[in-house]
Parts: sequence; structure tokens; C-alpha cells
Amino acid sequence: MKTILRALRGETLPTPPIWMMRQAGRYLPEYRATRAQAGDFLKLCYNPELAAEVTLQPIRRYGFDAAILFADILLIAQALGAELWFETGEGPRLSTITGPDGLRALKGKDDIHATLGPVYETVRILSRELPRETTLIGFAGAPWTVATYMIAGRGTPDQGPAHALKSADRATFEALIDLLTEATIEYLSAQVEAGAEVIKLFDSWAGSLKGADFDDFALQPAKRIIAALKARHPGLPIIAFPREAKERYEGFARATGADCVALDNSVDAAWAAAHVQVDGCVQGNLTPHHLVTGGQPLVDATREIVRAFSGGPHIFNLGHGITPDADPENVRLMIETVRGAAA
Ligand code: CP3
Repeated sequence: MKTILRALRGETLPTPPIWMMRQAGRYLPEYRATRAQAGDFLKLCYNPELAAEVTLQPIRRYGFDAAILFADILLIAQALGAELWFETGEGPRLSTITGPDGLRALKGKDDIHATLGPVYETVRILSRELPRETTLIGFAGAPWTVATYMIAGRGTPDQGPAHALKSADRATFEALIDLLTEATIEYLSAQVEAGAEVIKLFDSWAGSLKGADFDDFALQPAKRIIAALKARHPGLPIIAFPREAKERYEGFARATGADCVALDNSVDAAWAAAHVQVDGCVQGNLTPHHLVTGGQPLVDATREIVRAFSGGPHIFNLGHGITPDADPENVRLMIETVRGAAA
């Protein structure tokens, strides 16, 4: 069985399998060339041949144990009828949802496939073309994180507009979370039918939900999505990433039914081994900046994470996506260190 699937089933392996968030990305010259060929980032996401090509690039270059579908968490917003574009050097821009009218203008959960069809085609190409030992990961954004972009129309430092709508018009906010929860189930289910072997749910802004809000808008939607996916696809392994959840990482897998919890790099690995890995597989959590700076600090930090999680199931990864200024040779050094080949 593929190493990632073994770790997700709870096996402690002598060497942790490894992949990397944003492994297909701007730090690679071959990615930048293919993106230019596609025209821009969104055109690349919706071009199945080229999206499959950039997914495969880091597999060819490094032999990662998993490939993650090349797409974006905001495509589902577009599939629901939001406008979406990317400002070069700045990030995503969307039409905004400020009240009931914005919500009513959206499409239904079953209307998303017309827009997202090319993504499923990318998955089908990848399941044919990936090496037999490489696991194919599909993904979506968690409802709260996608809602923060749909409400604000862009990324925000503190998710202020989404918190404001939650206070000012709870009904609209909750209906948006519900719609996203249901659409995400359909979206991920279609990815699995196309050939995704593992699903990852990215809740990048989970850390800004406190107290009962964390339960209602991070934990509960994840639980609903995971239960629905596992009912339709028995045995499907699911990784949850409630980024910056801090002490709420503890118990998250038990409460949601996730097979693995991905840890951001603010989490101490020894703490996570004692409090999170006790419930099953963990993924993470090297600080991405080490791939910019490299050298002995990269080797030491990598070894420390491998050692801290060596007593249980672990998938090595970064704590967040690799940045465009990272050196591709440092990625090689990280992989060699994890696999024990480095001096
Ligand atoms: O390699 C992979 O990890 C798979 C593809 C992937 C992308 N985005 C490609 C991408 C995945 C899994 C994502 C997830 C994603 N997208 C998240 C959750 C993870 C996280 O980073 O917290 C979020 C919040 C987004 C939304 C998004 N997409 C933002 C805020 C931005 C701009 C910031 C940035 O890094 O540029 C993007 C753009 C984006 N998504 C790029 C890539 C490769 C860069 C765009 C480009 O190539 O021009």
C-alpha cells in the first residue's frame, strides 16, 4: 500500500512520507513557464492538461510521496456565482456578500459542476499519469475560510468583514456557511469519483474563530463534510487543517472524524505529539522560511520534527505553503534529510 495511505490508517513508519503545501508553485521555474503558457493563474486552474502538468512537475523533480491536485480553494466561490479574479502580486479579488441579496444571488450546491468540470478532468488525468506509488490528494477550502473571502472580496489580516457579518446578520452568515458546507460535499465527492484518493480540507483562517464560534463554524462544518464524504466513500482518508487553532488542535480529529490533522508551524512538535498525535496521524510542520534560508538550521529543524513525531503516524510537510522566494535546492535538502540520506 502507498506510504501516505498507510500513515493515514495509523501506521507508524520508519521514515515519514513527505509532500509539501504549494509544491506546485512559483518557486519552480517550470511552474512559472507553464503558467505563462496558460495565460494566468485562473486559466491554469481551468486547463486540465496544464493543471495536471504543474501537479506532476514537483513529483518528477523530487519524487514526493503525494501529489496535490492543482486548483484553488476559491474556485467553488466562482462556481456558486461569485466573480473571482487575481490581482498580480496582490492575491484574490471577489464580488462581496454583505447581506441577504448577495446570498440569494448565489447558485445552488448542485449547480457547481458546470464550472468545476475541468477540475474533475485534471483529477482524471492525474490518476492515469501519476507514478503508482504516489498518492493523489484532492482538496477544498473549509466553509469558514472560503466565506471570509466571499464576504470581504479579498484576503484580510483579521477576517474582520466576516466577523462583522456574523454579528450583524447571523442568518445570512449561517446560510452562507450551510451552502458552502453542502457545495463542498458535492465538490469533494466529485473529486473522489474522478480519482482523488485522499481529501484535505483547508481552514486557513480557523484560528480567528474563538470559543463557541470555533465549534460552530470550524468544527461542525468539518464534521458534516467528513461524515457525508465517508458515508458516500467508505474508508476515504481525510486530512483537516484548522490552521492556527492552537490548543483547539487537541481533540479536533476525534470531534470531526478526520484521519489526520495538519499542524501549522506555530505548534510545538513535542506538544502536538503528546496532545494531537495520540488520536492518530499528524501532518507537518516545518516553518516554510527554512526553505528560503536553508543550511544547517533547515537540517536541524527537519530532524527535530521527524524525531518528535517518530513515535506515531506522521506525514512530513510544511506548516504552511512554500513561498515564491524559496530555493528549489533547499527542498531537495529537506527531502534528503527526512529520508535519512543527508550527512
Ligand atoms: O500545490 C498546491 O498546494 C495545490 C494548489 C493550491 C493552490 N492554492 C495554488 C495556488 C492549493 C491547495 C491552494 C489552497 C489555497 N488557496 C488556500 C489554503 C491554503 C493556504 O495557503 O492557507 C488559500 C487561502 C487560497 C487562496 C489563495 N490562492 C490566495 C490567498 C492566493 C494568493 C496568495 C499567494 O500565495 O499568491 C492564491 C494564489 C495561488 N494559489 C497560487 C497558487 C500556486 C499563486 C498564484 C500564482 O501562481 O500566480
